[in-house]
Amino acid sequence: MGQPEQPESGVAAGAGPVGISADTGPVDVGTGAGSMKRRLGVGMVGYAFMGAAHSQGWRTVGRVFDLPCRPELAAICGRDADAVRAAADRLGWAAAETDWRELIARDDVDLVDICTPGDSHAEIALAALAAGKHVLCEKPLANTVEEAEAMAEAAEQARARGQVAMVGFNYRRLPATALARKMVADGRLGALRHVRVTYLQDWLVDPGFPLTWRLQREVAGSGALGDLGAHIVDLAQYLAGEPLVGVSALTETFVRERPLLAGASAGLSATGGGGPLGTVTVDDAALFTGRFASGALASFEATRFATGRKNALRLELNGERGSLAFDLERLNELSFHDHTEPGVSAGFRRILVTEPDHPYLEAWWPPGHGLGYEHSFVHQARDLVTAIATGVVPEPSFADGLGVQRVLAAVEESAAKNSVYTPVPPAPAAATATDSDSHASSASSVSSV
Ligand SMILES: NC(=O)c1ccc[n+]([C@@H]2O[C@H](COP(=O)([O-])OP(=O)(O)OC[C@H]3O[C@@H](n4cnc5c(N)ncnc54)[C@H](O)[C@@H]3O)[C@@H](O)[C@H]2O)c1
Repeated sequence: MGQPEQPESGVAAGAGPVGISADTGPVDVGTGAGSMKRRLGVGMVGYAFMGAAHSQGWRTVGRVFDLPCRPELAAICGRDADAVRAAADRLGWAAAETDWRELIARDDVDLVDICTPGDSHAEIALAALAAGKHVLCEKPLANTVEEAEAMAEAAEQARARGQVAMVGFNYRRLPATALARKMVADGRLGALRHVRVTYLQDWLVDPGFPLTWRLQREVAGSGALGDLGAHIVDLAQYLAGEPLVGVSALTETFVRERPLLAGASAGLSATGGGGPLGTVTVDDAALFTGRFASGALASFEATRFATGRKNALRLELNGERGSLAFDLERLNELSFHDHTEPGVSAGFRRILVTEPDHPYLEAWWPPGHGLGYEHSFVHQARDLVTAIATGVVPEPSFADGLGVQRVLAAVEESAAKNSVYTPVPPAPAAATATDSDSHASSASSVSSV
């Protein structure tokens, strides 16, 4: 695994025929008054939780960062004409469509941003890539390894045509996690021994919570595993700079039947209930251990039943020279213990990650004026736009998303076999920007590092 390139941006620097050139491809010269920047028309599918978060990113990114081109919120898509029109007005999109195929076909859409449940990711992404569009796809990349393989393959072919495809693992884009990656890559931890990650929520504790799409395997792929576990697997591999090679797992569904959805559902909330019950077909919690290629060990816990924990993604990395710790509920902070310091004064210290030299912070507020959850989506948009306009490989790539999908599949296989240790097949290496461009070559599941 090579050293990271620009971990603060999440974009692997590279030269050669990656992305689009300055003069060709689907980014047009802007014609707006006072703007000579090329425009990048964005079309987004889905307008609820992630739709709102991504909209915030697209609306804000060009007002904060000096970008090589100008993203435009061209069109948004949903299935209900009135609701999608209202969402377009509320979230700042110029036009509304009710069929994602129509959205992809629009001349003013250069990039398709997929914010729908996992059952439609593959179909929309494959159609968008075939139509010559760039793609941003929410996590997990797909609902099955087979779908993810087809998407990674299509992205690889599209890359040769100058298109880019990226997965929305937005927690890589927080200043503190990007700084953690940089410190690991700089050798501040030395050889890595342990990666410990938990992602805890509690919104499913009430057995009366209705059977939303997140509880249906045919829509969501899996439960806490694909929803929360996908994030922490990606983050662990990204921070460690290497892929997991095997896992041993337990999964459980604590509440096996729930009231059918009687009202609306968006994000983690839903209304309705009290009526007939339906079967929950996904896991409520997943616990697993894993082994990295280097021999470092990892442990993971993903659950929606940890009462009092709202969005508690916590991680700790222990290396021979030091340790790092992060808590998403205190996302402007990173804890660091330098084990090379004399024992009498060594210990964990808090780094307030708000300095202009910290990743992404050059464009934001004075030190100490912290950022929040939504800023990860602004940074995601910045990195993707920069990749498209400058011809670099954006990360996490679809090959990275496939790597995560293979870990999730191995977890399910292990859990079904009483936790037997289950190898994770290596993800295919994404093609490089140029044959000699080694830093972008080792996609496996973590081409970013
Ligand atoms: N990156 C993160 O932190 C994060 C957080 C939450 C969800 N997600 C991911 O984002 C995706 C969406 O989750 P969400 O929480 O926004 O869900 P949601 O239920 O809030 O919104 C889903 C949206 O997709 C639309 N939709 C569904 N099928 C459609 C279709 N065939 N055509 C057009 N529109 C369709 C719905 O109308 C709705 O607008 C999932 O893959 C989920 O795992 C990521």
